[in-house]
Amino acid sequence: MDAPHARVLITGAGTGIGAATARVLARRGDELALHHHLHRAEAESLAEELVAAGGRAFPVPGNLTFTKDLDRMVHALSSRFPSLEGLVLNAGAYPRTAFDQISDEQFEATVRLNLFSPFALTRRLLPLLRKATPSPARVVLVSSILAFNGSAHGADYAASKAGILGLARSMARELAPGITVNVVAPGSIDTAILAEDTPAQREARGRQVPLGRVGSPEEVARVVAFLTSPDANYMTGTTVHVNGGLRMD
Ligand SMILES: NC(=O)c1ccc[n+]([C@@H]2O[C@H](COP(=O)([O-])OP(=O)(O)OC[C@H]3O[C@@H](n4cnc5c(N)ncnc54)[C@H](OP(=O)(O)O)[C@@H]3O)[C@@H](O)[C@H]2O)c1
Repeated sequence: MDAPHARVLITGAGTGIGAATARVLARRGDELALHHHLHRAEAESLAEELVAAGGRAFPVPGNLTFTKDLDRMVHALSSRFPSLEGLVLNAGAYPRTAFDQISDEQFEATVRLNLFSPFALTRRLLPLLRKATPSPARVVLVSSILAFNGSAHGADYAASKAGILGLARSMARELAPGITVNVVAPGSIDTAILAEDTPAQREARGRQVPLGRVGSPEEVARVVAFLTSPDANYMTGTTVHVNGGLRMD
């Protein structure tokens, strides 16, 4: 019989921080549901890569802004997983727009993906999370340094990421002791989100960081791995900054 292992859903697992997290968690033996939306091919080939390396992973599609997709995902997970030991709420989008150009629709869409969908997905998954073996289940939400600093040309994004802090702390209080809820707040991390940077902007971004460079997705993934492991048993409601010293709290 298989040794007990954690079952974990990672949203936005086809790319960036989500894909890096999948690789780190697969290495320690977790069974992974790899959520994706537009990057289907990337999520499918990542699942194949992890399975070929002896791991357990399968893709789960869905547009997290549609409740019917959330319901479909939860149904798909419930039919494969008897319990859920980990939930990494990583998917998010950062449309860069000047404040006076942000339409009502854009603001609502950003909040819907970055803030509403973590709430709605977690609430739907509570029955599976409450069956976590061993308990507690571990939820990690990906916020941002911009939740603390604000963002010129990203008021909708910063507001949604700040909302995650209140959501996570509320869940941490209400869902304890069976579920822990923590937040990771990355600084500048080398993913598609920074792809709009020119080489000069990118170099300037690195110079602002005390550690002298932008971070890698793996450097965030390792902190997510810690927060979804028994090493973080006595942590809930906490925010861990992963930003090279760009902000020190
Ligand atoms: N990179 C940074 O500097 C940085 C800094 C602070 C915080 N973060 C946060 O880190 C998280 C991961 O971002 P990343 O940097 O790794 O960038 P990324 O590669 O662009 O990842 C974003 C993920 O969100 C998913 N997503 C976007 N819209 C979606 C939708 N409507 N429905 C479902 N999934 C959707 C994408 O899935 P598909 O591609 O499959 O559509 C993608 O996998 C985000 O929450 C971001 O805000 C990043």
